[in-house]
Amino acid sequence: MNVYESALECAHVIKAKFSGTIDFAVVLGSGLSNFEREIDIICSFDYADLPHFPLSTVLGHKGKLIIGKVKGKIVICQSGRFHYYEGYSVNQVTFPIRVFKLLGIEKLIATNAAGGLNPNQEVGDIVILKDHINMQPEHPLRGKNDDRFGPRFPDMMHAYYPDFYNKALSYARSKNYRCELGVYVGVQGPTFETPAEYQAFHRMGGDAVGMSTVPEVIVANHMSMKVLGISIIADCGYPLEKLKVISHQEVLEKSAEAEPKVTDIVTYVIENF
Ligand code: HPA
Repeated sequence: MNVYESALECAHVIKAKFSGTIDFAVVLGSGLSNFEREIDIICSFDYADLPHFPLSTVLGHKGKLIIGKVKGKIVICQSGRFHYYEGYSVNQVTFPIRVFKLLGIEKLIATNAAGGLNPNQEVGDIVILKDHINMQPEHPLRGKNDDRFGPRFPDMMHAYYPDFYNKALSYARSKNYRCELGVYVGVQGPTFETPAEYQAFHRMGGDAVGMSTVPEVIVANHMSMKVLGISIIADCGYPLEKLKVISHQEVLEKSAEAEPKVTDIVTYVIENF
């Protein structure tokens, strides 16, 4: 069975429980699962109950799709994402995004915790993504193209939807959050960067570096979805003087601290688009 048919089967199982229009899909990053509390839950699905859905393994991630209401809109929330470094194939990492599109969803919000590459940043800052640089070793669209999803050679001029990131930035500024637009560098992990790597990614034009998001955003663009991406800076990687030894635990703690701001911005965008 190919990805399209598997995703369709999965979408049918979801539709059997909820057949209404879903406005937004939201993929939550490490330490950022509290957004779930904003959802007036209609129904939810354990990954184990969804055909062809991979199962979640990493610390700090659960494995649930939740459908519910946020500010009068219907959202589906993926709590527990799949990372390439865990050993999943790129098709598995991006499978939920395929399912979202086959549910008729056109708007995607993805959050993550990331390392900071911009010297002006502090831990807890928010970077609203305006672009990315893909440094992961495998491209999610490699292989035979399925035209039912989208074209062979998708345009990536507006990988992140300008209206989303501009309005999200204005809102964040109006709330006095430390927040900038920036470029996300997507790496494989699971090592954090060496000092030389942080420096190299800074020079390449990156503002945040992390181990997720890019495959999902590529696949969303393949299917002409509009994307908002938000990173929380959990540690500073540049310049050298700001660099400290970090752990996954610390990343989870720092992103959890900054989470209410991200939840606020995400909720604002859901309400206003
Ligand atoms: N590098 C890569 N991924 C990350 C980092 C980092 O410094 N912090 C949180 N996720």
